[in-house]
Amino acid sequence: MNTIDFRSDTVSHPTAEMRAAMAAAAVGDDVYGDDPTVNELQALAAEMLGKEAAIFVPSGTMANISSIVAQTQRGDEIICGANSHIFLNEQASTSVVGAVQIRTVPENEDGTLPLDQVEASIRKLGNPHFPVTRMICIENTHNYMGGTPLTPEFTADVGELAKRHNLKLHVDGARLFNAAVALDVDVKDLVASADSVYFCLSKGLSAPVGSMVCGSKDFVAQVLRVRKMMGGGMRQAGILAAAGIVSLKKMVAGLATDHANAQRLVDGLNAIGGIQVRDVPNQTNLVFFELDENFGVNGAQLTQHLEDNNVLTYNMYGNNFRFATHHWITAEHVDTTLKLIAEVA
Ligand SMILES: Cc1ncc(COP(=O)(O)O)c(C=O)c1O
Repeated sequence: MNTIDFRSDTVSHPTAEMRAAMAAAAVGDDVYGDDPTVNELQALAAEMLGKEAAIFVPSGTMANISSIVAQTQRGDEIICGANSHIFLNEQASTSVVGAVQIRTVPENEDGTLPLDQVEASIRKLGNPHFPVTRMICIENTHNYMGGTPLTPEFTADVGELAKRHNLKLHVDGARLFNAAVALDVDVKDLVASADSVYFCLSKGLSAPVGSMVCGSKDFVAQVLRVRKMMGGGMRQAGILAAAGIVSLKKMVAGLATDHANAQRLVDGLNAIGGIQVRDVPNQTNLVFFELDENFGVNGAQLTQHLEDNNVLTYNMYGNNFRFATHHWITAEHVDTTLKLIAEVA
């Protein structure tokens, strides 16, 4: 593979150990609940997150919508960050599939939600004009706010607010383990107050497919029903789950290397100059930056220059970029890329 692919951590492909585990996986029909490898993965995920139960679903998008549908009723409202993936990037699935509307609250710079504004957005009960607020969603790490990790303290505060108003707390933890590693905390501490949480196996953890939704036994039983309704009941899914087990047992610690490579990229971009790099305390694996007007080339031209040299990037819009580091990006890849950027600056 000569291509250096920074487009997303989702492009990370399975390791040799994963491929071997997939080839050797014991399987059964998971819709009957008798795939031993899926069952092992689900037990492992629940144990690691400190929840009663977990369920394997095909994608992060299905994890979010099934968690929402399982805990809301038609006509409810949920509160999400204005830059959250659920609001921006999931095709209004809450409305289309869940018949639930989203009320947005703009995030703070660090990806947290201003809790006074969240509280002010909760609908008063008893007014027939209003939908019923049912849930608060947070995203950890927060992708579009810079890959920022949210602390256990912040999550506990949101949980306390949710409890006080009898609301559910859902954590979109697509990159939850990146947050735990960046903050050096147990992942359990990041989700202790969450009613529902999911994380992706197929992003920084390098598995080919899948996400894990975690919560109480009753909640997971409900998600199982929603997953089946949406066509997400998979049969010999142990082939995929086998890779997920390797993700959880072997890939978590390596996220620290991805974060170090992202920091190396940030430092190198700052040294080139003419680039506004988003400053993120506790750097994770996402790097956001914008080229200045006088940089020398614009976003499209830089993208082309990199592509001509086998480096793929995510040019979000105009001169704005997001680079994601992952298992298959090395420090040398970062240095090669920085050299290519410097030569057109
Ligand atoms: C924060 C966040 N949530 C959810 C998702 C959706 O995951 P998937 O692509 O597996 O549907 C993504 C995907 O990038 C994400 O970044």
